[in-house]
Amino acid sequence: MNNRNLLYALALCCILLAFGAWILGFFHYSAPVRQSPAAQVLPNLQNAPAAELKYAPPRPQDAPESIREAVMLGFNIINDTAQYASKHVGNELACATCHLEGGTSKASISLVGAAATYPRFSANHGTSIDLAQKVQDCFARNLNATPPAHDSREMQAVLAYLQWISKDIPVYASLPWALPGKLDTSHKPDAAAGEKVYAESCAACHGDAGDGSPPLWGKGAYSDGSPLHNVDTFAVFTHRFMPPEAATLTPEQSLDVAAYVDGQPRPHFAPAQSHGDAGQKSPQGK
Ligand code: HEC
Ligand code: HEC
Repeated sequence: MNNRNLLYALALCCILLAFGAWILGFFHYSAPVRQSPAAQVLPNLQNAPAAELKYAPPRPQDAPESIREAVMLGFNIINDTAQYASKHVGNELACATCHLEGGTSKASISLVGAAATYPRFSANHGTSIDLAQKVQDCFARNLNATPPAHDSREMQAVLAYLQWISKDIPVYASLPWALPGKLDTSHKPDAAAGEKVYAESCAACHGDAGDGSPPLWGKGAYSDGSPLHNVDTFAVFTHRFMPPEAATLTPEQSLDVAAYVDGQPRPHFAPAQSHGDAGQKSPQGK
């Protein structure tokens, strides 16, 4: 092959390569990524379209007549769990202690839209769980109780209610009001500094020994299987919501007080004893 033929051959190669690249682009080819079996069937919530979602949960009393009674009961159970689902409360908390106004308030963890985002992968279960299983988890881990059975009146009511307040949210929408997993800082939580933050900013309501109203540790508090028994989650909650209507702690102070509270004693979450299906994997909440 002389130099000229070599040049022709090279040019041809370039053209073929460019054409190949164009074809791949045309069919939106992307390199396959190895994923766990669960991740393959579950949607990637981060990639859901970030639509402009309005925060306008409907009122429970406006539910259609066919479901209104169930929706109202679900709303009442979340707000006053001890009165409306007394068999399913094992401490001094109600669902509304963490999900104010039936979970429709943005001043605590909102439940608006949650129903649209299940089934979803759960690290505790190692597989995808539906909304009923998530609700059972919450009864078991946060209220330290035997959760209502799937076919119970209480569970049906809570599900109807959660579904109703998600009625205008598209399936698997990414919710702008969902809490971040952690605060945006590289600060290393310091429990000793957190003890001072606690005494100054929290003890007035939550008690010197964590047994105030509502309690933060001790036998009336959430269990060690709660999602709040996690320094990052607790810090996000505190930074956003505590003290109520006066949340002024810095991310660093929030992490410090989280580390302090996290080191206090609380009821142990024992899935096998309480019930069969609210999380066998690890005692760490998520
Ligand atoms: C001690 C605080 C606390 C209590 C009490 C509590 N929860 Fe939660 N709940 C959380 C936290 C924190 C999250 C967010 C982290 C997670 O999903 O595990 C959450 C998440 C949820 C979710 C999923 C929301 C989503 O967008 O995925 C539902 C549904 C829920 N809770 C229902 C309930 C119900 C019903 C009760 C009462 C039986 C209850 N919770 C009691 C702290 C609490
Ligand atoms: C003025 C009283 C008040 C102060 C001060 C206060 N809280 Fe709260 N806290 C509440 C009330 C009331 C709730 C129940 C939810 C609500 O009404 O917002 C709550 C709920 C909570 C919860 C979830 C429910 C539970 O009992 O587990 C946590 C966690 C929490 N507070 C942490 C803190 C931390 C940390 C501080 C200090 C930085 C603090 N709070 C300061 C009144 C207070």
